[in-house]
Amino acid sequence: MFSQLQTVATDPILGLMAEYKADPNPNKVDLGVGVYKDEQGHTAVLKCVKEAEALRLKQEDSKTYIGMAGDLSFNAHIEKLAFGPAHQVLLANRVTTAHTPGGTGALRVAAEFIKRANPNATIWVTTPTWANHISLFQAAGLKVKEYAYYDYDSKGLQTEQMFADLNTIPAGDVVLVHACCHNPSGMDLNFEQWQRFTAIAKERGFTPLVDMAYQGFGSGLDEDAAGLRYLADNVPELLLCSSCSKNFGLYRERIGAVSIVAEDSKVAEIARVNLLSVVRSIYSMPPAHGAIIVSHILDSQELTALWHQELAEMRNRINDYRQLIIDKLAAEGVSQDFSFITRQHGMFSFLGINKAQIDRLKAEFSIYMVGSSRVSIAGLNHSNIDYFAKSVATVLKG
Ligand code: LMR
Repeated sequence: MFSQLQTVATDPILGLMAEYKADPNPNKVDLGVGVYKDEQGHTAVLKCVKEAEALRLKQEDSKTYIGMAGDLSFNAHIEKLAFGPAHQVLLANRVTTAHTPGGTGALRVAAEFIKRANPNATIWVTTPTWANHISLFQAAGLKVKEYAYYDYDSKGLQTEQMFADLNTIPAGDVVLVHACCHNPSGMDLNFEQWQRFTAIAKERGFTPLVDMAYQGFGSGLDEDAAGLRYLADNVPELLLCSSCSKNFGLYRERIGAVSIVAEDSKVAEIARVNLLSVVRSIYSMPPAHGAIIVSHILDSQELTALWHQELAEMRNRINDYRQLIIDKLAAEGVSQDFSFITRQHGMFSFLGINKAQIDRLKAEFSIYMVGSSRVSIAGLNHSNIDYFAKSVATVLKG
């Protein structure tokens, strides 16, 4: 039976990670996967996480199952973090949450939940979107279509085409929207565009799915959730998938959450039992470790303050490098306009260079970025930024 299998292409992001690892060049630069690195090029464990883990080691007295919804204290915290503590959807008991193995796990559970609610639903994603979105939804058996989003020429949004596309989507379909730090382009909706998106969702009756994998990496925890909170104020239902991989640096713990906002508390209760039955049929219940770390941090004012500080440090370092890339490229005599880099948000920037230039950067200089020209800015630091700028200038000159 197994000999019938055909080989499959490696994932464009994780495949690049493996290529980088195998490259012996001491000057190699990893701008591929969306993982934060500090000035030393290291993905350190956050201090708040270390303290929470020490506490957990002391307090943990059982390894028994935690149930299909996962850690209930984590779920309550993550809802407040996303919607704000006094959001009307929380006060009206319209939200149900399950903690999941990472943001990817949240998306897969969301896909299975959507199929139960409407087996014929199509899910619409931005052009372009995270490399795994389309295959993940297709693997779950959903039809996937795209709506206009990023404009490769102007390096902004295809605003009018995007709203025109959204205006064709029927009730019963689902529209995935990135809450902040759009992956891969870094171009986000502004508040006025969130208002227009919301008005169309209400009028057309489609269900939004908000993917929030980078809360706190754009402008701040509340700022990055402003669009989601406005949407939740105005539409009867939505899905939210969130992740603690980036903002808590808990990549390998696989900790995320799926939240369903229903039109009232009765529907939310029915959504809850369906959500749990979806979870039971996939992985039964999530691993506890990451959720309990996050709960410990958010239970403590002191650890929460430390987390805010560490998150701000990560965000500010990335933002500083946005300007530095522009300055260094200019200093290398590059005449193209790269000012758009400071208009992008989050971990990524679309450099807007072509495939041949990206291939040359990898082959000649061991500089790794995703084939769309997406660079993970945190891979840059004081010891490689000049090498990066020189190499990009070389390939741009042809
Ligand atoms: C990324 O986009 O680089 C991250 O979300 C990691 C991943 O799983 O692709």
